[in-house]
Parts: sequence; structure tokens; C-alpha cells
Amino acid sequence: MRINVLVARASLLILTGLALGALVVSAKTPAPAKSSAPAKSLAPALGDPERGRQAYLETCRFCHGVNPIEGGTIAPPIGGSSLALIQARVMEGGYPPGYKPKRATRNMPTFPHLKDDLPHIAAYLAQTK
Ligand code: HEC
Repeated sequence: MRINVLVARASLLILTGLALGALVVSAKTPAPAKSSAPAKSLAPALGDPERGRQAYLETCRFCHGVNPIEGGTIAPPIGGSSLALIQARVMEGGYPPGYKPKRATRNMPTFPHLKDDLPHIAAYLAQTK
């Protein structure tokens, strides 16, 4: 009898332990998803990469190539370019202070109408390093 009671208690304890364990695990599971968010949200903080890709393909591709990492026939690769660099080039045809251009030429036209797309283009280019 006593042994049976002990066994019953022991298995109850184990069951409780398992249930608690499951609770802890299920309570913890959403945490990794949340904590991995900041790393992923770095690019989205700039803009929408998909919108950026569209804008890139519509305008930048003709010179910079389908793949921004490789570059095009007339323009250098621009994968990973910062928003500051993109703004300086696209809005004014310049460069951010202290930036060393990949080319000394000034052949790229400006595209001021793309002002609102620049954060999206930066988000897209951030994904193509
Ligand atoms: C008509 C061709 C052409 C188009 C279209 C074009 N570019 Fe360029 N881009 C160039 C050329 C050529 C250079 C090299 C510097 C120069 O001669 O102006 C350049 C340089 C750059 C650079 C600097 C690269 C570096 O690190 O030195 C960035 C950034 C850039 N372009 C972004 C863009 C973006 C974003 C778009 C689309 C909105 C775009 N370009 C559209 C021709 C073009």
C-alpha cells in the first residue's frame, strides 16, 4: 500500500513537473521570435524593401544592373549603400561628406521625384550586400 502511494505521489510529482516544464517552454517560445525581431527590423526601419526593389528595377537597374551587388555596364555596384549616400546621389548628384566615391565621374543624373522612395530603396539595397 505505502509503496503504491509513494509511487502514485512520485508520478504525480513527475507529471506536475512535466506540466510546469511545458508551461515554461510554451511561455518562453514567443520570446526568441521577439528577441530576433530587432536584428531583422534594421532594414524595415528604413523602409519597405519590396517597394524599394520595385523602384530600383524601374529606375536604377538600367545603369546599375539587375543585381545591385554586381553593378551594370555603365554604373558601379551599389548593394548595401547607405540612405545618406543614396539621398546625396539621387537628390543632388553629390556624395555625403567624407565619402570616397567608387568612380570619379559625375555621369549619374538626379531623380528628385524619387524622394519618397529613397528609404525603400535603402532598405532594399541593405539586403543586397
Ligand atoms: C543613367 C544611369 C544611372 C541611373 C539610372 C542611376 N545611376 Fe547611380 N550611378 C551612375 C553612375 C555612372 C555612377 C558612378 C558615378 C557617376 O559617374 O556619377 C553612379 C553612382 C551611384 C552611387 C554611388 C556608388 C558609390 O559607392 O560610389 C549610388 C549610391 C547610386 N549611383 C545610386 C543610384 C540609385 C539609387 C539609382 C536609382 C534611383 C541610380 N543610382 C540610378 C549611373 C546611374
